[in-house]
Amino acid sequence: MKKIALVTGGTSGIGLATVEALHRKGYIVVFTSSKSQVAGEQIASQDREALRYLQCDVTNKDQISSVKDTLVEHYGRLDVLINNAGYTEVVPHSNFEGATDELWMKIFTTNVMGTWWMSTLFHDLLKAEAGSIVNITSIAGLRPIGSSIPYSVSKAALNQMTRLLAASMDNVRVNAVAPGLIDTPWTESWDQLRENVRRVAPLHRSGTPEDVAQVVVSVAEAAYLTGEVIAVDGGLTLKV
Ligand SMILES: NC(=O)c1ccc[n+]([C@@H]2O[C@H](COP(=O)([O-])OP(=O)(O)OC[C@H]3O[C@@H](n4cnc5c(N)ncnc54)[C@H](OP(=O)(O)O)[C@@H]3O)[C@@H](O)[C@H]2O)c1
Repeated sequence: MKKIALVTGGTSGIGLATVEALHRKGYIVVFTSSKSQVAGEQIASQDREALRYLQCDVTNKDQISSVKDTLVEHYGRLDVLINNAGYTEVVPHSNFEGATDELWMKIFTTNVMGTWWMSTLFHDLLKAEAGSIVNITSIAGLRPIGSSIPYSVSKAALNQMTRLLAASMDNVRVNAVAPGLIDTPWTESWDQLRENVRRVAPLHRSGTPEDVAQVVVSVAEAAYLTGEVIAVDGGLTLKV
C-alpha cells in the first residue's frame, strides 16, 4: 500500500518542492494552501492518482478537520505530515511600532497555532502508522536575525514545539528543518540579503526549494531521528 503524505502550503516554494520530492518517492501526496486553489488544482492535475489538492487555511480549525475527514475517507491513514505553511512581513527589528499586535497575532496564529492544530489533530493517524512530522522553521529561530521580530520568535517557538512534541508523542517522530535564505516568491525582492549570503556563507549562494525538500524527505524517513532541528542554510549560521 502506498504511503500518504500531507503538506501544508504546497502550492509554492519549499512546500511545492517537497510535494514534488515526495511524489517522486512514490507517496500519495495531499497538499493544501489557503488561497491559491487554481495553482493547486493545476499541480494536482499532473497525476490525479497520487496528488490531491485541498483548500485549507491552517488558521481555520474547521478547514483542518475537513482535510482530516477527506484523508480518512479516501486513504484511511497518514504517514508523513509536513507543516510548511507560514507567514511573515518585513519589519526592521528596531521599528517597534511596525511590529503591531495584529502582525504578532497573524504570524503566531499561522506559524505556531497552525502547526499545533495540524500536529495534534493528525496525531492519532500518524501514531497508527508510526509516522513522522517535519516542521519547516527557520534559522531566524536559531539566531537573532529574520524578517521581523514576531516571525523570528514564532520560529524559535516552533523549534521548541518540535522538541516538546517529539518528547510527548510516542512512536511519532517529530523534527524540524530550519532553512536559511531560499529562493522562493517569499524572498524574491530580498536581493541585498542574497548578496550578503553569497559573500558570507561557506557555500556562497542562497538555497533552492529543492535543496530544502531533499533534506525534508530524508528527515521524514529517518527511522531513528526525533526531536532534532536541522539547519539547511549553506553554513550561514556558522557565520552569523
Ligand atoms: N524562503 C525562505 O528563505 C525561507 C527561509 C526560512 C524558512 N522559510 C519557511 O518556509 C515555509 C515556506 O516558505 P516559502 O518561502 O516556500 O513561501 P512561499 O513560496 O510564499 O509559499 C508559501 C506557501 O504557503 C501557503 N500558505 C500561506 N499561508 C497559509 C495558510 N494560512 N494556510 C495554508 N497555507 C498557507 C501559500 O499558499 P496561499 O498563499 O495560497 O495560502 C504557499 O503555498 C514558511 O514556513 C517559511 O517561514 C522560508
